Amino acid sequence: MEAGRLRRLLPWAFRHRGWIGYSLLAFAGARLLEASVPLMMAEAIDRLAAKNFDVTGPVLAIAGAVLLRMVVVSSARIAIRRAAVNVAFDLRRALFDRLQRQGLTFFGQHTVGDMMTRAVSDIGVLRRLVSVGTIFLVILVYATAVGFGAMFYLAPDLAWLVFPPLPFIAVYALFAARSMRAASEATQETLSMVTERAQETFGGIRTLQAMAREPFVEARFGDANGAYIQAFLNQARINSLMTAIMPSLAAIGTLIVLGYGGSLVQQGALSPGSLVAFFAYVAMVIQPMRSAGTLVNMVQRGRVSAQRLFEILDLPDEIADTGTHRAPKIEGALHLSAMTARYARAPRPALQDLELTVAPGEVLALMGPVGAGKSTLLALLPRLLEPSAGNITLDGVALADWPLATLRQALALVPQDAFLFADELGANLSYDQPDRPAPTILQAAGAAAFRQTVERLPRGLDTRVGERGLTLSGGQRQRATLTRGLIRGAPVLLLDDCFAAVDTHTEAQILDGLFEARHGKTTIFVTHRSATAQRADRIAVLEDGALTALGTHAALAHGSGWYARLAERQGTA
Ligand SMILES: Nc1ncnc2c1ncn2[C@@H]1O[C@H](COP(=O)(O)OP(=O)(O)O)[C@@H](O)[C@H]1O
Ligand SMILES: [Mg+2]
Repeated sequence: MEAGRLRRLLPWAFRHRGWIGYSLLAFAGARLLEASVPLMMAEAIDRLAAKNFDVTGPVLAIAGAVLLRMVVVSSARIAIRRAAVNVAFDLRRALFDRLQRQGLTFFGQHTVGDMMTRAVSDIGVLRRLVSVGTIFLVILVYATAVGFGAMFYLAPDLAWLVFPPLPFIAVYALFAARSMRAASEATQETLSMVTERAQETFGGIRTLQAMAREPFVEARFGDANGAYIQAFLNQARINSLMTAIMPSLAAIGTLIVLGYGGSLVQQGALSPGSLVAFFAYVAMVIQPMRSAGTLVNMVQRGRVSAQRLFEILDLPDEIADTGTHRAPKIEGALHLSAMTARYARAPRPALQDLELTVAPGEVLALMGPVGAGKSTLLALLPRLLEPSAGNITLDGVALADWPLATLRQALALVPQDAFLFADELGANLSYDQPDRPAPTILQAAGAAAFRQTVERLPRGLDTRVGERGLTLSGGQRQRATLTRGLIRGAPVLLLDDCFAAVDTHTEAQILDGLFEARHGKTTIFVTHRSATAQRADRIAVLEDGALTALGTHAALAHGSGWYARLAERQGTA
C-alpha cells in the first residue's frame, strides 16, 4: 500500500524516460570506466615491481579513462536532474490544476499553508528522490556489481572475505541514517516553531503592543529559540559521531583483505598490483553502502510526500463541469426549490428547504443576521458550492446543465472579502478581461463611486495594489471589487455585503450608479441597512438558514418580524 504511493511516480517519470534512460546508461558506463582504472594501475605497479619502468601506456590509459568518466558522469547527472525537475514541473502543474477545480468545501478544510507545503516542499522531496535517489540507487547497484565482478576476476578466494563485514556496515548505515533523520526532524520542528512564533508576533504586533504583551511574547520566543539551539547542537553531535565511526568500520574490510591478500602475494598467487587494485574495489563496494541509509531516508520521506501529493491529485472535480446547454441570451431568472446546503463537518445545514424565485431584471435585497446563510446562498448560484439537496435553475435550466464557464460569466459574484491581486489597479478592476480600454474601466469605476479615488492616484489605473502595492482603505477596496463586478455587465450581479465599509452618502451614490448601470438586469445584494434595502424591488430575510420574510419594504416594515424591528431601530419604518 505504502510502496504503491511511490510506484505512482513511475508514469510521471516515464514521460521523461529519454533523459532517465540516458543517465542510467551513462552511469553504468562511468562505473565501468572507473573500474578499469585500478586494473591499469595494477598493470603499472606490476611492471614497476618487475623493474620494467615503461608505464606510459597504463598512465595514458588511466588519464583517458578518468577524463572520459568525468565527462560521462557530469552529463549523466545533468540528464537525471533535468528529468527530475521536469517531473516536478509536471506534478506542480497537475496539483495547481487540481486545486483550481476544488470549491468552497475543499478550501474550507485545507489551509493555504498546507497547500503551499504540498506544492513546494513535498514536490521538492520527490524531485530530490528522482534525481539524487536515482543516483544513489544506480551507484549502489552498479558499484556493487562492477566492484564484485572485478574482485572475483582478480582473486575469487579473497573476494568471498569481503562479504561478511558488509551487512554490519549496511546495518550501521541504516541505524546512523535513522538517528540523523530523527535529529534533523527535531531541528526542523523547533525551527518552524521559531518561525511560527515570529510570524504570529509580527502579524499581531499592533494588538500585542496595544496590550503591552511584549515581555510575554519575548519569553515565548526565547523558549522556542533556545529549543532550536539545543536541537541543532544535538544534531551536530549525532552527525559528527555517526560519520566518524563509518570509516573505522570500513577499515575492518581493508584489514581482512590486507591480512589474507598479503599471504596470497607471499605465495605468489596474487600480484602486488592486483592487491592494490583489490583495495580500490573494496572501497568501491563499501562507499555506496554508506549512503544506503540516506537512500532509505529519502525513500521514506518520498512515500509520505507522494501520499500527501496524490491525495490531492486523486480528488475529483468538486464541481462537475458536464453541462452543455446554450442560450443566445441569458435573461437572469433564478428559481430555488427545496434547496438545502450543508458544509462538510458542519453540525447543521447552513440553508434549509429554501424556496425563492427572482424575476429577470429584479433587484433583490438579501438581509439577515450574521451567520444566517446569505453568503452561502450567493455562493450556490455560480456553483462555488453545491447544494446537498434541492434544485436551482437559471432561466429554467438547472445550474448543472450550463457549462460552468457560461454560468460563472452570467452570474457575477462580488464576494464579501474585498480581495485585490498583486497587480496594477486597472488589471484588478478588469480582471475578467485584461484588454478593456481605460475609459470603459473608468466608467464602471464611476458607477461604483470609485472613479474619483482612481483619478486622484498619481499613476491612476497603473498604480500597483495588493501585496507590496499601494494600500487601499477597506472602503476603497470594496469599491474596487464592486467595480470589478459591475464592469462585467453580467445578466445577474451578486453583491455580498459590498457597502459595509462605505459611509451612507457614498452608499447612496453607489446605489444610484448601480441602478443606472444595471437597468433591466437581475441584481441581488446583501446589506445591513434598511435604507439601502428599501430601494430594492423586494427584500428577502434569512434567519438561521431559513427564508423568514419576502416582500417589499412597505410590506415587511409593517409586519412584526426581524425586518420590522431593524427598520424601526434604523429609523426607516
Ligand atoms: N466554509 C464553511 N465551512 C463550514 N461552515 C461554514 C462555512 N462558511 C459558513 N459556514 C457556516 O454556515 C452558516 C452560514 O454562513 P454564511 O453564509 O457565511 O452567513 P452570512 O453570510 O449570512 O453571515 C454559518 O453558521 C457559518 O458558520
Ligand atoms: Mg456573509
